[in-house]
Amino acid sequence: AKGLFAPGPLAGRRVLLTAGPTREYLDPVRFISNPSTGKMGLAVAQAARSLGAHVTVVLGPVGTVERAGLDVVDVVGAEDMAREVLARVEDVDLFIASAAVSDWKPQTRAAHKVKKTEGPETLTLVRTPDVLAEASRRVAGRERRPALVGFAAETQRVVEYAREKLQRKGLDAIVANDVTAPGAGFGVDTNQVTVLTRDGGEHALSGTKREVARALLDLVRGYLPAQPQ
Ligand code: CTP
Ligand code: CA
Repeated sequence: AKGLFAPGPLAGRRVLLTAGPTREYLDPVRFISNPSTGKMGLAVAQAARSLGAHVTVVLGPVGTVERAGLDVVDVVGAEDMAREVLARVEDVDLFIASAAVSDWKPQTRAAHKVKKTEGPETLTLVRTPDVLAEASRRVAGRERRPALVGFAAETQRVVEYAREKLQRKGLDAIVANDVTAPGAGFGVDTNQVTVLTRDGGEHALSGTKREVARALLDLVRGYLPAQPQ
């Protein structure tokens, strides 16, 4: 059993991740979501575990996935995800936000199924919390704060938009992901990304999601806080 003191470069480290989509319900049977399967985030989670870390995954609704060795907290909506992350982020060494969080939710949620004859012609949406930005604000300025890593799913001007997100959210690194590139994006087993780091670095990574996960962890290890005495 790989526990807190398993050997490896992340031995004794606590890693927190978000993964998967969120669902924002408008009534008990309908929701807004996206095609994220959580594969990339779970690959990072498994890679961190195999390097010796204790890994907690705050996981949106995905199908059956390999949970062995991971501490999984199941959530549905962006607000649930924010609550579970903020309850934990101050106590970890590394927070990686790979979830595809819905940016909006319906303004109201009907208690009962809305009949088609009574449905609204337009749906009013409101913004959801930005889980990563809130987590970053929560630990900002701490003497010992976790390394913060985001993902940026883009379809155009990928590196430029990702760099802007890294700065705006106060991150150490961001994984820029062109979700329209062949062999990248939602649901597939491979990925092709550029990791941008706070110090201006740009690192192209490609391969299976597992290989990309391992290389990502090698890149961000340098941003972990010094081990506590
Ligand atoms: N993120 C989050 N909570 C949200 C939205 C995004 O935690 N409500 C995180 C994602 O997990 C990812 C990063 O922020 O690590 C960037 O997500 P992305 O959707 O690419 O960027 P946004 O800031 O939402 O901007 P936009 O969708 O407009 O490009
Ligand atoms: Ca978004």
